[in-house]
Amino acid sequence: MNSDSHNAPRAHARVLAADSAALEEAARILLAGGLVAVPTETVYGLAADATNGAAVAAIFTAKGRPSFNPLICHVASLAMAESLAHFSPLAHRLAEHFWPGPLTLVLPRRADCPVAELATAGLPSIGLRMPQHIATLEIISRVGRPLAAPSANPSEQLSPTQAAHVAAGLGDRIDLIIDGGACEAGVESTIIAPGERHAVMLRPGAIARAEIELFTGPLRSPDASEGVLAPGMMKRHYAPRARLRMEAMTQESGEAFLAFGPPPPGVSPSLNLSIRGDLAEAASNLFAMLRALDARHAMIAVQTIPDVGLGEAINDRLRRGTLLSRESGV
Ligand code: TXA
Ligand code: MG
Repeated sequence: MNSDSHNAPRAHARVLAADSAALEEAARILLAGGLVAVPTETVYGLAADATNGAAVAAIFTAKGRPSFNPLICHVASLAMAESLAHFSPLAHRLAEHFWPGPLTLVLPRRADCPVAELATAGLPSIGLRMPQHIATLEIISRVGRPLAAPSANPSEQLSPTQAAHVAAGLGDRIDLIIDGGACEAGVESTIIAPGERHAVMLRPGAIARAEIELFTGPLRSPDASEGVLAPGMMKRHYAPRARLRMEAMTQESGEAFLAFGPPPPGVSPSLNLSIRGDLAEAASNLFAMLRALDARHAMIAVQTIPDVGLGEAINDRLRRGTLLSRESGV
């Protein structure tokens, strides 16, 4: 076994189909402190051994990400999660119902939690989730430690939902990419802090608010509650280069049109997130379609998407993209 990959000057990362040999190789690289992009049901993650501070630091360097931003730690079992954080009865119920799946729980860090301080940005809490992708669960099990993994894109760029997106954005900065196919959900996990008095939604995501509220009651937003830190919710995020115009019912000259459902009269859509108006299908297409249009157009108009169910996460990501185009004066 030679450990060529993470110390030598970087060649372009290998992309391997998720077979048993590839998963073993991924585990080997991670245990040696390297970086591996892994598939999840939401978006591809850029993984490192969460207990290895230097490896976690390498994630921030590869992404060009501000280091105050805490990372989600991915586990392969509830037992592994419980060795890292204190679970209230509510947190336990949420994990049992939604894991493996796109729910991240922000919970109090245990005093003996072995995760590097840098991964949790020095916070007393930790974000945990068990992803629903067999390849990545297998990698975590083989490593036997939690994996810190933000989305596998350069900071502020679009999240990757295919191995080829990862290769394009980070290929020259990481060791290995495990190709597990296109991500099913297509937007990041929903992040919940199930606090003692009330639960807070820190980020809308691939599980709709209403599904979680069946367990938590009405979810608060982070600014409506004191004491919950959401340092990572940067406004500038999820941004294409093109200028985005939301709730578009017309197409101006020079604009690409990203439709949702039947397009408005007179508009000929460049792409359609979901012809039948299905929000889950739209979420899974969102980043790949924005990426495709961004490569060829300076302006993208996006048809109105209802702010219900998964529409909340889709509109959240689009709104952040709009902010960035405005701020940079494009
Ligand atoms: O679907 C996902 O969640 C993807 C895949 C790869 O699992 N991961 C992802 O990670 O989106 P990332 O690093 O891009 O988002 C992490 C966000 C931070 O921006 C922050 O808002 C929140 O999770 N977070 C993590 N730990 C936290 C903590 N201790 N307290 C508050 N927020 C936390
Ligand atoms: Mg991200």
